Amino acid sequence: MKLANAMVLDVLRLMGVTSAAAALIVPMATGMTLVLCMLTFRQDRPNAKYVLWPRIDQKSCFKSIVTADIKLVFLGGVFFGDELRTDVAVLESKITELGAENICCVMTTTSCFAPRVPDRLEEVAALCKTRNIPHLVNNAYGVQSSQCMHRVQQAARVGRVDAFVQSADKNFLVPVGGAIVAGFDADLVNRISKTYPGRASSGPTLDLFITLLSLGLHGYQKLLAERKRLFTYLQTALSEVAQRHGERVLQTPHNNISMAMSLTRLSPKNATQLGAMLFTRCVSGTRVVARGEEKEVCGFMFRGFGAHSSEYPCNYLTAAAAIGMTQNDVDTFIKRLDKVLSKCMSSGDTDNSDCRPSLKSESERGECEGKGDMVSSIPPDLENQFKTVSVDEK
Ligand SMILES: *Cc1c(COP(=O)(O)O)cnc(C)c1O
Ligand SMILES: *[C@@H]1O[C@H](CO)[C@@H](O)[C@H](O)[C@H]1NC(C)=O
Ligand SMILES: *[C@@H]1O[C@H](CO)[C@@H](O)[C@H](O)[C@H]1NC(C)=O
Repeated sequence: MKLANAMVLDVLRLMGVTSAAAALIVPMATGMTLVLCMLTFRQDRPNAKYVLWPRIDQKSCFKSIVTADIKLVFLGGVFFGDELRTDVAVLESKITELGAENICCVMTTTSCFAPRVPDRLEEVAALCKTRNIPHLVNNAYGVQSSQCMHRVQQAARVGRVDAFVQSADKNFLVPVGGAIVAGFDADLVNRISKTYPGRASSGPTLDLFITLLSLGLHGYQKLLAERKRLFTYLQTALSEVAQRHGERVLQTPHNNISMAMSLTRLSPKNATQLGAMLFTRCVSGTRVVARGEEKEVCGFMFRGFGAHSSEYPCNYLTAAAAIGMTQNDVDTFIKRLDKVLSKCMSSGDTDNSDCRPSLKSESERGECEGKGDMVSSIPPDLENQFKTVSVDEK
Protein backbone atom coordinates (compact mmCIF):
# COMPACT_ATOMS: atom_id res chain seq x y z
CA MET A 1 0.00 0.00 0.00
CA LYS A 2 2.64 2.48 1.09
CA LEU A 3 4.76 1.70 -1.91
CA ALA A 4 1.87 2.14 -4.33
CA ASN A 5 0.93 5.47 -2.76
CA ALA A 6 4.52 6.64 -2.99
CA MET A 7 4.66 5.65 -6.65
CA VAL A 8 1.46 7.52 -7.41
CA LEU A 9 2.72 10.60 -5.60
CA ASP A 10 5.83 10.41 -7.72
CA VAL A 11 3.78 10.25 -10.90
CA LEU A 12 1.67 13.25 -9.88
CA ARG A 13 4.83 15.24 -9.19
CA LEU A 14 6.43 14.24 -12.46
CA MET A 15 3.26 15.16 -14.32
CA GLY A 16 3.47 18.70 -13.03
CA VAL A 17 2.24 19.02 -9.46
CA THR A 18 5.81 19.20 -8.20
CA SER A 19 5.04 20.28 -4.65
CA ALA A 20 2.36 17.67 -3.84
CA ALA A 21 3.12 16.34 -0.35
CA ALA A 22 1.00 13.21 -0.21
CA ALA A 23 -1.20 10.99 -2.35
CA LEU A 24 -3.48 8.15 -1.40
CA ILE A 25 -5.27 5.58 -3.49
CA VAL A 26 -8.88 5.32 -2.36
CA PRO A 27 -11.05 2.32 -3.28
CA MET A 28 -13.95 4.49 -4.41
CA ALA A 29 -14.76 6.37 -7.58
CA THR A 30 -14.00 10.06 -7.95
CA GLY A 31 -17.40 11.35 -6.84
CA MET A 32 -17.35 9.46 -3.56
CA THR A 33 -13.78 10.51 -2.91
CA LEU A 34 -14.86 14.13 -3.29
CA VAL A 35 -17.51 13.42 -0.65
CA LEU A 36 -14.84 12.11 1.69
CA CYS A 37 -12.90 15.34 1.29
CA MET A 38 -15.95 17.50 1.96
CA LEU A 39 -16.82 15.55 5.08
CA THR A 40 -13.29 16.01 6.33
CA PHE A 41 -13.38 19.77 5.72
CA ARG A 42 -16.66 19.98 7.56
CA GLN A 43 -15.16 18.48 10.70
CA ASP A 44 -13.14 21.70 11.05
CA ARG A 45 -15.95 24.00 10.05
CA PRO A 46 -18.99 23.31 12.23
CA ASN A 47 -21.05 26.10 10.65
CA ALA A 48 -20.31 25.17 7.11
CA LYS A 49 -23.32 24.17 5.08
CA TYR A 50 -22.56 25.32 1.56
CA VAL A 51 -20.33 24.18 -1.24
CA LEU A 52 -19.72 26.78 -3.93
CA TRP A 53 -19.54 25.09 -7.24
CA PRO A 54 -18.88 26.48 -10.68
CA ARG A 55 -21.41 24.37 -12.49
CA ILE A 56 -20.24 21.29 -14.35
CA ASP A 57 -22.82 18.93 -15.75
CA GLN A 58 -21.31 15.72 -14.55
CA LYS A 59 -23.82 13.75 -12.57
CA SER A 60 -21.50 12.08 -10.11
CA CYS A 61 -20.02 15.34 -9.02
CA PHE A 62 -23.40 16.73 -8.36
CA LYS A 63 -24.61 13.59 -6.60
CA SER A 64 -21.54 13.59 -4.38
CA ILE A 65 -22.53 16.90 -2.87
CA VAL A 66 -26.10 15.78 -2.35
CA THR A 67 -24.78 12.62 -0.68
CA ALA A 68 -22.65 14.71 1.64
CA ASP A 69 -25.80 16.57 2.68
CA ILE A 70 -24.27 19.91 1.94
CA LYS A 71 -26.14 22.72 0.22
CA LEU A 72 -25.00 23.23 -3.27
CA VAL A 73 -24.62 26.73 -4.57
CA PHE A 74 -24.43 26.78 -8.35
CA LEU A 75 -22.33 29.35 -10.05
CA GLY A 76 -22.88 30.01 -13.71
CA GLY A 77 -19.96 30.63 -16.02
CA VAL A 78 -19.20 33.49 -18.36
CA PHE A 79 -18.94 33.23 -22.11
CA PHE A 80 -15.77 34.26 -23.80
CA GLY A 81 -16.23 33.65 -27.50
CA ASP A 82 -17.32 30.02 -27.64
CA GLU A 83 -15.72 29.20 -24.30
CA LEU A 84 -17.55 28.92 -21.03
CA ARG A 85 -15.24 30.10 -18.24
CA THR A 86 -15.36 30.50 -14.47
CA ASP A 87 -17.09 33.62 -13.23
CA VAL A 88 -14.70 34.64 -10.47
CA ALA A 89 -16.61 37.84 -9.69
CA VAL A 90 -19.80 35.90 -8.99
CA LEU A 91 -17.86 33.51 -6.78
CA GLU A 92 -16.45 36.38 -4.80
CA SER A 93 -19.82 38.03 -4.26
CA LYS A 94 -21.38 34.71 -3.23
CA ILE A 95 -18.69 34.24 -0.60
CA THR A 96 -19.45 37.68 0.79
CA GLU A 97 -23.18 37.04 0.68
CA LEU A 98 -23.05 33.66 2.47
CA GLY A 99 -20.19 34.40 4.83
CA ALA A 100 -16.89 32.54 4.56
CA GLU A 101 -17.37 30.56 7.79
CA ASN A 102 -20.60 29.08 6.42
CA ILE A 103 -18.85 27.65 3.39
CA CYS A 104 -17.51 24.12 3.53
CA CYS A 105 -15.38 24.56 0.43
CA VAL A 106 -15.19 25.79 -3.11
CA MET A 107 -15.10 22.89 -5.54
CA THR A 108 -13.49 23.58 -8.89
CA THR A 109 -12.95 21.33 -11.88
CA THR A 110 -9.98 21.06 -14.20
CA SER A 111 -10.81 18.42 -16.80
CA CYS A 112 -14.19 19.00 -18.40
CA PHE A 113 -16.01 18.79 -21.68
CA ALA A 114 -15.76 21.61 -24.15
CA PRO A 115 -17.04 24.27 -24.59
CA ARG A 116 -16.55 24.56 -20.84
CA VAL A 117 -12.89 25.08 -20.07
CA PRO A 118 -10.96 24.26 -16.90
CA ASP A 119 -11.82 26.54 -14.00
CA ARG A 120 -9.58 29.52 -13.30
CA LEU A 121 -7.84 27.69 -10.52
CA GLU A 122 -5.22 30.29 -9.68
CA GLU A 123 -7.72 33.05 -9.14
CA VAL A 124 -10.07 30.84 -7.13
CA ALA A 125 -7.16 29.57 -5.05
CA ALA A 126 -6.05 33.12 -4.27
CA LEU A 127 -9.57 34.02 -3.24
CA CYS A 128 -9.84 30.91 -1.02
CA LYS A 129 -6.60 31.84 0.64
CA THR A 130 -7.61 35.40 1.51
CA ARG A 131 -11.07 34.33 2.66
CA ASN A 132 -9.80 31.23 4.48
CA ILE A 133 -12.03 28.71 2.70
CA PRO A 134 -10.97 25.16 1.74
CA HIS A 135 -10.48 24.59 -1.97
CA LEU A 136 -11.18 21.17 -3.42
CA VAL A 137 -10.18 20.42 -7.00
CA ASN A 138 -11.92 17.82 -9.13
CA ASN A 139 -9.10 16.73 -11.43
CA ALA A 140 -11.03 13.67 -12.66
CA TYR A 141 -9.11 12.95 -15.84
CA GLY A 142 -6.60 15.76 -15.52
CA VAL A 143 -3.44 13.75 -14.84
CA GLN A 144 -3.15 13.03 -18.55
CA SER A 145 -3.08 16.73 -19.37
CA SER A 146 0.00 18.77 -18.54
CA GLN A 147 -2.24 21.81 -18.71
CA CYS A 148 -4.51 20.61 -15.87
CA MET A 149 -1.58 19.50 -13.74
CA HIS A 150 0.18 22.79 -14.27
CA ARG A 151 -2.94 24.64 -13.18
CA VAL A 152 -3.15 22.68 -9.93
CA GLN A 153 0.49 23.40 -9.19
CA GLN A 154 0.18 27.12 -9.97
CA ALA A 155 -2.98 27.40 -7.89
CA ALA A 156 -1.24 25.85 -4.89
CA ARG A 157 1.67 28.21 -5.38
CA VAL A 158 -0.33 31.42 -5.51
CA GLY A 159 -3.20 30.45 -3.25
CA ARG A 160 -4.94 27.62 -1.52
CA VAL A 161 -5.57 24.07 -2.73
CA ASP A 162 -6.47 21.66 0.07
CA ALA A 163 -6.94 18.52 -1.95
CA PHE A 164 -7.20 17.43 -5.56
CA VAL A 165 -8.87 14.22 -6.66
CA GLN A 166 -8.32 12.16 -9.80
CA SER A 167 -9.82 9.03 -11.17
CA ALA A 168 -7.59 5.97 -11.32
CA ASP A 169 -9.34 4.42 -14.32
CA LYS A 170 -9.53 7.59 -16.41
CA ASN A 171 -5.85 8.32 -16.07
CA PHE A 172 -4.15 4.98 -15.66
CA LEU A 173 -6.15 2.48 -17.69
CA VAL A 174 -7.10 0.39 -14.65
CA PRO A 175 -10.59 -0.97 -13.91
CA VAL A 176 -13.21 1.43 -12.57
CA GLY A 177 -13.49 1.88 -8.83
CA GLY A 178 -10.49 3.77 -7.59
CA ALA A 179 -9.44 7.37 -7.17
CA ILE A 180 -6.41 9.21 -5.93
CA VAL A 181 -6.67 11.99 -3.41
CA ALA A 182 -3.62 14.20 -3.09
CA GLY A 183 -2.68 17.44 -1.43
CA PHE A 184 0.03 19.74 -0.19
CA ASP A 185 -0.35 18.90 3.47
CA ALA A 186 0.29 15.26 4.33
CA ASP A 187 -1.69 15.49 7.59
CA LEU A 188 -4.82 16.59 5.80
CA VAL A 189 -4.57 13.83 3.19
CA ASN A 190 -4.12 11.40 6.01
CA ARG A 191 -7.19 12.71 7.79
CA ILE A 192 -9.22 12.39 4.62
CA SER A 193 -8.26 8.74 4.40
CA LYS A 194 -9.27 8.22 8.03
CA THR A 195 -12.75 9.54 7.26
CA TYR A 196 -13.30 6.49 5.08
CA PRO A 197 -15.87 4.38 6.90
CA GLY A 198 -14.77 0.80 7.40
CA ARG A 199 -12.12 -1.38 5.90
CA ALA A 200 -10.90 -0.81 2.40
CA SER A 201 -10.47 -3.12 -0.52
CA SER A 202 -6.91 -3.32 -1.74
CA GLY A 203 -7.99 -4.07 -5.31
CA PRO A 204 -7.62 -0.57 -6.77
CA THR A 205 -4.24 -0.17 -5.10
CA LEU A 206 -2.99 -3.43 -6.53
CA ASP A 207 -4.33 -2.62 -9.99
CA LEU A 208 -2.59 0.70 -10.00
CA PHE A 209 0.60 -0.70 -8.58
CA ILE A 210 0.82 -3.38 -11.23
CA THR A 211 -0.08 -0.99 -14.03
CA LEU A 212 2.51 1.56 -13.00
CA LEU A 213 5.17 -1.10 -12.65
CA SER A 214 4.47 -2.56 -16.04
CA LEU A 215 4.07 0.75 -17.84
CA GLY A 216 6.98 2.46 -16.18
CA LEU A 217 7.39 6.21 -16.34
CA HIS A 218 8.61 6.01 -19.88
CA GLY A 219 5.64 3.95 -20.97
CA TYR A 220 3.23 6.36 -19.34
CA GLN A 221 4.88 9.37 -20.92
CA LYS A 222 4.62 7.68 -24.29
CA LEU A 223 0.88 7.22 -23.80
CA LEU A 224 0.53 10.87 -22.87
CA ALA A 225 2.50 12.02 -25.87
CA GLU A 226 0.31 9.91 -28.13
CA ARG A 227 -2.80 11.36 -26.55
CA LYS A 228 -1.54 14.85 -27.23
CA ARG A 229 -0.82 14.02 -30.84
CA LEU A 230 -4.26 12.49 -31.29
CA PHE A 231 -5.90 15.57 -29.85
CA THR A 232 -4.55 17.60 -32.76
CA TYR A 233 -5.34 14.82 -35.19
CA LEU A 234 -8.92 14.61 -33.95
CA GLN A 235 -9.27 18.37 -34.11
CA THR A 236 -8.20 18.46 -37.75
CA ALA A 237 -10.45 15.57 -38.70
CA LEU A 238 -13.43 17.00 -36.85
CA SER A 239 -12.92 20.40 -38.50
CA GLU A 240 -13.06 18.75 -41.90
CA VAL A 241 -16.26 16.88 -41.11
CA ALA A 242 -17.77 20.03 -39.65
CA GLN A 243 -16.94 22.01 -42.73
CA ARG A 244 -18.43 19.38 -45.01
CA HIS A 245 -21.71 19.70 -43.18
CA GLY A 246 -21.81 23.45 -42.83
CA GLU A 247 -20.77 23.46 -39.19
CA ARG A 248 -17.61 24.37 -37.29
CA VAL A 249 -15.46 23.24 -34.40
CA LEU A 250 -16.05 25.63 -31.50
CA GLN A 251 -13.03 27.71 -30.53
CA THR A 252 -12.06 26.49 -27.06
CA PRO A 253 -8.28 26.92 -26.88
CA HIS A 254 -8.24 26.50 -23.08
CA ASN A 255 -9.49 22.95 -23.24
CA ASN A 256 -6.74 20.57 -24.24
CA ILE A 257 -8.64 17.29 -23.85
CA SER A 258 -12.12 17.85 -25.20
CA MET A 259 -13.51 19.75 -28.17
CA ALA A 260 -16.96 20.51 -29.52
CA MET A 261 -18.55 20.88 -32.93
CA SER A 262 -21.62 23.03 -33.56
CA LEU A 263 -24.89 21.49 -34.77
CA THR A 264 -26.67 24.66 -35.73
CA ARG A 265 -28.35 23.21 -38.79
CA LEU A 266 -30.39 20.84 -36.64
CA SER A 267 -33.22 21.67 -34.32
CA PRO A 268 -32.58 20.68 -30.69
CA LYS A 269 -34.88 17.73 -31.15
CA ASN A 270 -33.12 16.56 -34.27
CA ALA A 271 -29.75 17.06 -32.64
CA THR A 272 -30.88 14.76 -29.85
CA GLN A 273 -31.89 12.22 -32.46
CA LEU A 274 -28.46 12.47 -34.00
CA GLY A 275 -26.99 11.76 -30.58
CA ALA A 276 -29.18 8.70 -30.23
CA MET A 277 -28.14 7.49 -33.67
CA LEU A 278 -24.50 7.80 -32.76
CA PHE A 279 -25.27 6.03 -29.55
CA THR A 280 -26.93 3.06 -31.21
CA ARG A 281 -23.84 2.82 -33.39
CA CYS A 282 -21.95 2.64 -30.14
CA VAL A 283 -19.95 5.76 -30.69
CA SER A 284 -19.53 6.25 -26.98
CA GLY A 285 -16.79 8.84 -27.05
CA THR A 286 -19.11 11.59 -28.08
CA ARG A 287 -22.12 13.31 -26.64
CA VAL A 288 -24.69 15.54 -28.26
CA VAL A 289 -25.92 18.44 -26.20
CA ALA A 290 -29.18 19.93 -27.40
CA ARG A 291 -29.91 23.53 -26.60
CA GLY A 292 -32.30 24.08 -23.72
CA GLU A 293 -32.56 20.46 -22.63
CA GLU A 294 -34.00 20.04 -19.16
CA LYS A 295 -33.12 17.24 -16.85
CA GLU A 296 -33.77 16.34 -13.28
CA VAL A 297 -30.86 15.07 -11.25
CA CYS A 298 -31.37 14.23 -7.58
CA GLY A 299 -34.46 16.39 -7.47
CA PHE A 300 -32.84 19.42 -9.04
CA MET A 301 -33.93 20.72 -12.42
CA PHE A 302 -31.06 21.60 -14.69
CA ARG A 303 -31.78 23.82 -17.63
CA GLY A 304 -29.47 23.31 -20.56
CA PHE A 305 -28.33 20.08 -19.00
CA GLY A 306 -25.07 18.84 -20.45
CA ALA A 307 -24.01 22.31 -21.53
CA HIS A 308 -22.88 23.44 -18.04
CA SER A 309 -24.99 26.52 -18.68
CA SER A 310 -28.68 27.24 -19.02
CA GLU A 311 -28.11 29.36 -22.07
CA TYR A 312 -25.48 27.94 -24.34
CA PRO A 313 -26.47 29.37 -27.72
CA CYS A 314 -26.25 26.31 -29.95
CA ASN A 315 -26.50 22.53 -30.08
CA TYR A 316 -23.18 20.80 -30.30
CA LEU A 317 -21.45 17.48 -29.95
CA THR A 318 -18.33 16.84 -27.96
CA ALA A 319 -15.36 14.63 -28.68
CA ALA A 320 -12.33 13.96 -26.54
CA ALA A 321 -8.84 12.64 -26.94
CA ALA A 322 -8.21 10.49 -23.90
CA ILE A 323 -5.28 8.35 -22.91
CA GLY A 324 -5.26 4.91 -24.51
CA MET A 325 -7.05 6.05 -27.64
CA THR A 326 -5.63 5.05 -31.02
CA GLN A 327 -5.60 6.75 -34.38
CA ASN A 328 -7.80 3.96 -35.64
CA ASP A 329 -10.39 4.85 -32.98
CA VAL A 330 -10.41 8.42 -34.23
CA ASP A 331 -10.76 7.33 -37.85
CA THR A 332 -13.66 5.02 -37.02
CA PHE A 333 -15.37 7.73 -35.03
CA ILE A 334 -14.98 10.32 -37.78
CA LYS A 335 -16.22 7.94 -40.44
CA ARG A 336 -19.36 7.10 -38.48
CA LEU A 337 -20.01 10.67 -37.52
CA ASP A 338 -19.73 11.75 -41.14
CA LYS A 339 -22.21 9.10 -42.20
CA VAL A 340 -24.75 9.94 -39.52
CA LEU A 341 -24.45 13.65 -40.23
CA SER A 342 -25.07 13.02 -43.92
CA LYS A 343 -28.26 11.18 -43.03
CA CYS A 344 -29.54 13.77 -40.62
CA MET A 345 -28.69 16.82 -42.63
CA SER A 346 -29.64 15.73 -46.12
CA SER A 347 -32.35 18.18 -47.10
CA GLY A 348 -33.80 15.92 -49.77
CA ASP A 349 -34.89 13.50 -47.10
CA THR A 350 -38.23 15.10 -46.37
CA ASP A 351 -39.37 13.33 -43.27
CA ASN A 352 -35.89 12.35 -42.20
CA SER A 353 -37.19 9.04 -40.99
CA ASP A 354 -33.69 7.62 -41.08
CA CYS A 355 -32.78 10.15 -38.47
CA ARG A 356 -34.76 8.29 -35.84
CA PRO A 357 -32.92 6.30 -33.28
CA SER A 358 -33.61 2.60 -33.34
CA LEU A 359 -33.46 2.33 -29.57
CA LYS A 360 -35.56 4.70 -27.58
CA SER A 361 -35.73 4.20 -23.87
CA GLU A 362 -32.84 5.07 -21.64
CA SER A 363 -32.75 1.63 -20.13
CA GLU A 364 -32.31 0.09 -23.55
CA ARG A 365 -29.67 2.59 -24.36
CA GLY A 366 -27.80 1.52 -21.24
CA GLU A 367 -26.46 -1.41 -23.21
CA CYS A 368 -23.46 0.32 -24.63
CA GLU A 369 -23.05 2.71 -21.80
CA GLY A 370 -19.89 2.42 -19.82
CA LYS A 371 -20.76 3.73 -16.41
CA GLY A 372 -24.40 4.58 -16.65
CA ASP A 373 -23.29 8.17 -16.68
CA MET A 374 -24.96 10.29 -19.28
CA VAL A 375 -22.57 13.16 -19.22
CA SER A 376 -19.22 11.51 -19.07
CA SER A 377 -18.17 10.88 -22.62
CA ILE A 378 -15.07 9.13 -21.42
CA PRO A 379 -15.96 5.49 -20.97
CA PRO A 380 -14.27 3.48 -18.27
CA ASP A 381 -12.57 1.26 -20.76
CA LEU A 382 -10.33 3.94 -22.08
CA GLU A 383 -8.46 1.66 -24.37
CA ASN A 384 -11.64 1.39 -26.32
CA GLN A 385 -12.58 5.03 -26.33
CA PHE A 386 -14.54 4.83 -29.55
CA LYS A 387 -14.87 1.11 -29.77
CA THR A 388 -17.82 -0.45 -31.47
CA VAL A 389 -19.71 -3.00 -29.51
CA SER A 390 -22.22 -3.69 -32.19
CA VAL A 391 -21.71 -2.09 -35.55
CA ASP A 392 -24.70 -0.85 -37.42
CA GLU A 393 -23.37 -0.39 -40.91
CA LYS A 394 -26.48 0.19 -42.93
C1 LIG B 1 -15.63 11.06 -14.24
C2 LIG B 1 -15.84 12.34 -13.61
C3 LIG B 1 -16.27 12.44 -12.29
C4 LIG B 1 -16.52 11.32 -11.35
O1 LIG B 1 -16.86 10.10 -11.86
P1 LIG B 1 -16.75 8.79 -10.97
O2 LIG B 1 -17.66 7.85 -11.65
O3 LIG B 1 -17.21 9.13 -9.61
O4 LIG B 1 -15.33 8.36 -11.01
C5 LIG B 1 -16.45 13.70 -11.78
N1 LIG B 1 -16.22 14.79 -12.49
C6 LIG B 1 -15.78 14.75 -13.75
C7 LIG B 1 -15.50 16.02 -14.48
C8 LIG B 1 -15.58 13.52 -14.36
O5 LIG B 1 -15.13 13.48 -15.62
C1 LIG C 1 -2.77 23.18 -25.26
O1 LIG C 1 -2.03 22.42 -26.18
C2 LIG C 1 -1.37 23.19 -27.17
C3 LIG C 1 -0.79 22.24 -28.17
O2 LIG C 1 -0.22 21.12 -27.60
C4 LIG C 1 -0.33 24.05 -26.50
O3 LIG C 1 0.34 24.84 -27.46
C5 LIG C 1 -1.03 24.96 -25.51
O4 LIG C 1 -0.10 25.71 -24.80
C6 LIG C 1 -1.87 24.16 -24.54
N1 LIG C 1 -2.69 25.08 -23.80
C7 LIG C 1 -2.56 25.24 -22.52
C8 LIG C 1 -3.49 26.26 -21.92
O5 LIG C 1 -1.78 24.62 -21.87
C1 LIG D 1 -36.21 17.36 -37.94
O1 LIG D 1 -36.57 16.05 -38.32
C2 LIG D 1 -37.88 15.95 -38.81
C3 LIG D 1 -38.18 14.49 -39.10
O2 LIG D 1 -37.56 13.66 -38.20
C4 LIG D 1 -38.01 16.80 -40.06
O3 LIG D 1 -39.33 16.74 -40.55
C5 LIG D 1 -37.63 18.24 -39.76
O4 LIG D 1 -37.63 18.99 -40.94
C6 LIG D 1 -36.29 18.33 -39.10
N1 LIG D 1 -36.09 19.68 -38.66
C7 LIG D 1 -34.94 20.33 -38.77
C8 LIG D 1 -34.93 21.73 -38.30
O5 LIG D 1 -33.94 19.80 -39.16
